[in-house]
Amino acid sequence: MKKILFVASEGLPFVKTGGLADVIGSLPQALHREGFHTSVVMPLYLKTAKTMHASLTKVKTYPVKVGIFDTIATVYLKTIDEIDYYLIEHATYFEREGYYGYPDDGERFSFFQHAVMRMIEEKVIEPDVLHSHDWHTGLIPLLVKTLYKTRIKTPLTLFTIHNLYFQGCFPYSMLESCVGLPNSYYFDGSLRFKDGISFMKAGIVYADLVTTVSETYASEILTPEFGESMEEILKLRQYDLFGIVNGIDVKDWNPASDKYLAVPYSTQNISKGKQTNKLAIQQELGLRQDPNVMLVAMVSRLTDQKGIWLLLQSMNQIMGWDIQLIVLGTGDQHVEGQLKSIEYRFPHRAVFYCGYNESLAHKIYAGADVLLMPSLFEPCGISQLIAMHYGTLPLVRETGGLKDTVEPYNEHTKKGTGFTFGPFSVEDFKHVLWMAYEVYTFRHDDFKTMIKQAMHKDVSWDKSAKAYAKIINKRLK
Ligand code: ADP
Ligand code: GLC
Repeated sequence: MKKILFVASEGLPFVKTGGLADVIGSLPQALHREGFHTSVVMPLYLKTAKTMHASLTKVKTYPVKVGIFDTIATVYLKTIDEIDYYLIEHATYFEREGYYGYPDDGERFSFFQHAVMRMIEEKVIEPDVLHSHDWHTGLIPLLVKTLYKTRIKTPLTLFTIHNLYFQGCFPYSMLESCVGLPNSYYFDGSLRFKDGISFMKAGIVYADLVTTVSETYASEILTPEFGESMEEILKLRQYDLFGIVNGIDVKDWNPASDKYLAVPYSTQNISKGKQTNKLAIQQELGLRQDPNVMLVAMVSRLTDQKGIWLLLQSMNQIMGWDIQLIVLGTGDQHVEGQLKSIEYRFPHRAVFYCGYNESLAHKIYAGADVLLMPSLFEPCGISQLIAMHYGTLPLVRETGGLKDTVEPYNEHTKKGTGFTFGPFSVEDFKHVLWMAYEVYTFRHDDFKTMIKQAMHKDVSWDKSAKAYAKIINKRLK
């Protein structure tokens, strides 16, 4: 059995800030079903240390050289459903309240990546494939081909871009001080990006295979509009770049067995199930209980990427219609500030829950009629997949994975699993939300047909895991 080691900065069931954690929590299982031995390695954060430490097995302690520093890493193991999760402990770097956004992030994740490479050198695991994700683990393919080239059995390196916007940019002096490579990697252009170095660029340039999380995003990032100034670098890797859309874990996300819901439901009893869950979430959040009003929701990081301004700028007009709105999210402070006023402006009709709340997210996916994702760009998107699986119709902008996964409503054929719009404008957003409102209100049979189609759509990992297996197996031969 070939061994794949996933290297990531977050993942379920340990820590989650966004869709990356969903992927790390479910793709290894899917590839295991494709016949690989899969394991995951990530940092041991404070939350895990506090809640799970007693259930972890200590595997090994070893020294790690981070550029000019020497420090110690300890690896712990927890096996869940045949997947081995390795957690790298370093209290100073990782036992903090948050996960990212610290001034020493470059040093923290340089350490983590060296600790992973040392773990392989120490033969804790000898993977055939090292699959790293986003900038936090972008150095891995570079370390495999340089500092550790003669120290470990060379694995195939696969690097997945989940979001090109976050690039891990640091001053070039970090090459010597933390990465342990000479400054020439900056001066000869290999890692140079803007005025420093980029860990994301390292992954793109040095990995044997590069993937991203939808076909449309794979082609979008080759253009200046979406390439975040890396489009020319990506074009050089065009023939090793693949777009493979994400799936969700349909065992964890299953409305028929979801422990958070007021009542479980399936395609056999959609109307009753969704109605009961709608009344329950309305009551829980202080909205007027009404099974007939269209309940629109957003479950999201609140950043410019997610198109939240389109909602804020159309708020007065759309709240003039007979709809209710729930926003669950956390992010930019000025966005949070604006959202905090909606409960006063539209009492019992709009509510903002500021924060991250897993159980509430489940209840919203079950109780809402429409989920908003008017993203400026969206590499894949997990929320719209969950929404469809829960019979909540996504309203999305046609970009990245949203375009690839949501089939737009067609009033003639009655086909579709959601509502879509193209140009990133308030007018287009309002127009499509009005269309959803109109179908909900006046063409209820069409709306119901769409819900069924959405719930029947295959959003599992099965097809995509096969696509990963195919590109990996081709290179392993
Ligand atoms: P991104 O990774 O860009 O944030 P995705 O759509 O890929 O977007 O994934 C978001 C994931 O995080 C989904 O599983 C969604 O349910 C979850 N999520 C986002 N915000 C919250 C929140 N405030 N509370 C609970 N879950 C959230
Ligand atoms: C990133 C992207 C999101 C994607 C997720 C998982 O956070 O913003 O679109 O679904 O990664 O791949």
